[in-house]
Amino acid sequence: LTGYITLDSGYKNTGCTKSAITFLDGEKGILKYRGYPIEQLAEKSSFIEVAYLLIYGELPTQTQLNEFEELLKEHSDVPEQLKTILLAFPPEGHPMGKLCSVIASLSAFYPESLKPNASESEQNLTLVKLLAKLPSIVAYIQRHTLSHSYVASDNNLDYVTNFMNMAFGGHAGSTKVDPVVIDAMNKLLILHADHEQNCSTSTVRIVGSSDCNLYASVAAGVAALWGPLHGGANQAVIEMLEKIKNDGGDTAKWVAKAKDKNDPFRLMGFGHRVYKNFDPRAKIIKKACDDILNKLGIKDPVLEIAKHLEEAALNDPYFAERKLYPNVDFYSGIIYRALGFPTEMFTVLFALGRLPGWIAQWKEMRENKEPIGRPRQVYVGEVDRTFVDIKNR
Ligand code: SDX
Repeated sequence: LTGYITLDSGYKNTGCTKSAITFLDGEKGILKYRGYPIEQLAEKSSFIEVAYLLIYGELPTQTQLNEFEELLKEHSDVPEQLKTILLAFPPEGHPMGKLCSVIASLSAFYPESLKPNASESEQNLTLVKLLAKLPSIVAYIQRHTLSHSYVASDNNLDYVTNFMNMAFGGHAGSTKVDPVVIDAMNKLLILHADHEQNCSTSTVRIVGSSDCNLYASVAAGVAALWGPLHGGANQAVIEMLEKIKNDGGDTAKWVAKAKDKNDPFRLMGFGHRVYKNFDPRAKIIKKACDDILNKLGIKDPVLEIAKHLEEAALNDPYFAERKLYPNVDFYSGIIYRALGFPTEMFTVLFALGRLPGWIAQWKEMRENKEPIGRPRQVYVGEVDRTFVDIKNR
């Protein structure tokens, strides 16, 4: 190649940073946050406890956790003008576009987030405000999408219960805040909380590397997550399963389509850049899917289709040779649907879970004083041409 430049499209074999936050072993299907196995955290921890671990590096003591939760409650509401911004969107607009815009607007309401050389406590308050307000923002986006009114944060409720209460209309006693539902949401949010240098996290890092503020960096991450090859896959999976169901549920036909190079159809929720074994999150989510649907007494025909599709694919050489397994997005949408979320909200829920990871990674990059990200290229265009007057073209 030209001199010292090595071309690595998609950064398949390029490490862009050193990080102490999340460890993945793609061959063995291992995922750890700050050294703790995801299986233990999903079983024993809460989402806010895991957010604390990712951002500050240690599991909190009970006192630290109580203080952190109180601080989040103190900052959980959003300014009236921010609600006005949301109301300016047509309700049918995609929720990810609303989320991206509203998060980018936060620096207008909290200008201290733009302060150069902010102190550690000022920077901490900036990240706390984002983590504290996202449930209100996401809940309001759902209410706006369904043309329902805003429900204010209720600081008598814990972080996840408060979110469900706001998102589903403030019926604190309703099934939406049933402990079974809250446990499932905590688990899903924990499993989405970080995943080393995926597309959206790398985006947050590279935008932050220009010394850009946290809110705009995270808004960029939301944009990257929206794509169906990344976080948008959880919505695409449900749309795919519905299409297969409406087509008579012939999973073998759709597996064949996914293998056909002349057919643009891909098995959404399958495959992963790093995992060449089962995605450990998919295993946990698949079991949680069975548990929560049984507990809620819900029979969703797409769950059976998903299981048949998984079985058909895993027994097919095409998928086995390419080491294509279900990823985090394959079953998550079935749970979100059972919990009552509209399909177009699924990727916003992915962002709600991923926020602590984005914050932790941005913070680490800034603490390590990493240089501005600026990859090179291999130039393949015209080399030396002379301008031609338009009358002679
Ligand atoms: C997430 O990076 C992360 O960590 C992301 C994430 C996170 O937590 O942040 O885990 C979240 O984004 C999970 C992935 C969600 N996306 C999908 O489910 C979309 C469907 N999957 C694919 O598009 C694909 O598998 C990717 C995007 C996930 C990975 O793509 P790669 O690593 O670039 O692999 P590739 O596209 O080069 O595929 C390699 C081969 C190709 O076939 P050949 O050219 O070798 O013949 O596998 C085939 C592909 O055609 N292939 C598929 C397939 N995925 C890959 N064929 C059919 N269906 C699929 N889903």
